[in-house]
Amino acid sequence: MSQAAASSAPLADALKHTAEIVNAELDHLLAVPDGPESRVHEAMRYASLDGGKRLRPFLVMQSAGLFNVAESSSLRVACAIEMVHCYSLIHDDLPCMDDDDLRRGRPTCHRQFDEATALLAGDALLTRAFETVAAAATHPDPAVRCELVWELAHASGADGMVGGQMVDLRAAEFAMDVAAITRLQQMKTGRLIGFSCEAGAVLGKAPGVMRQALRNYAHDLGLAFQIADDLLDVEGDASEVGKKVGKDAGAGKATFVSLLGIERARAQADMLAKQAVRHLDVFGDKADLLRATASFVVDRRS
Ligand code: IPE
Ligand code: IPE
Ligand code: MG
Ligand code: MG
Ligand code: MG
Repeated sequence: MSQAAASSAPLADALKHTAEIVNAELDHLLAVPDGPESRVHEAMRYASLDGGKRLRPFLVMQSAGLFNVAESSSLRVACAIEMVHCYSLIHDDLPCMDDDDLRRGRPTCHRQFDEATALLAGDALLTRAFETVAAAATHPDPAVRCELVWELAHASGADGMVGGQMVDLRAAEFAMDVAAITRLQQMKTGRLIGFSCEAGAVLGKAPGVMRQALRNYAHDLGLAFQIADDLLDVEGDASEVGKKVGKDAGAGKATFVSLLGIERARAQADMLAKQAVRHLDVFGDKADLLRATASFVVDRRS
């Protein structure tokens, strides 16, 4: 099975398995100490344990699996990217940003705790992510750990996710055409997905051509993923999606959907998912779950 997506049952099982091992590892990495600072640890756990699709950790585990990387290594990187993602969600939901009350079907972190605690929990998840990647347990070769730290910093920071969030907040100030929206979404969402796919190649010291194939796959997958997120905001049901819907239109946000309409946005997401799969030919059958992930990303209901 090279071009067509694999059937979704093995993917559902694999996603479930990844969620279970990621939860167990996060539980271990986010232990709560004694003392008054325990509140920030509780908030970190609240925002990152037991919830979400765990798509980014799954991409790390699958890309690492292509190169026979030890699970003890890839799992730590999978947890690190999930910590960065969860930090980005905590801050994204704050009143000064999207001002949301619901995340993963529960009150957002600042609603459950308070704004200052949520801010600190986000900060601490970000730093714990780098602590986790840099630790010797992640890989025996310090050069590999250093490269992962560099890539994660670049993907997360002002040239990546944070920069994309800034453009997102300022979108109303500019005439956003398809090219501008593509760039915004590539930064805001695509860069962390890109890191997740490339991390396996870094851990496995893969040949450049294979790393490039994963980068190309991630480029199309990330864009398809964010278009699907924007479609869910228009068409989704809050109880299923686990977060409020109708927020983008309410905030007057330019998205692929506001620009192209629902039909063309969906067609674009489907086209990108098919294009993503084509980059995986070099991996043969070993990449079947990554192929199925492309369909999952555009067909998902949450
Ligand atoms: C939501 O990401 C935020 C975006 C980048 C669009 P996910 O849809 O992966 O959220 P969880 O992790 O499953 O909750
Ligand atoms: C947020 O995008 C992406 C992040 C970097 C956190 P959105 O604001 O569209 O994400 P949701 O819809 O709140 O999950
Ligand atoms: Mg936002
Ligand atoms: Mg938001
Ligand atoms: Mg959204």
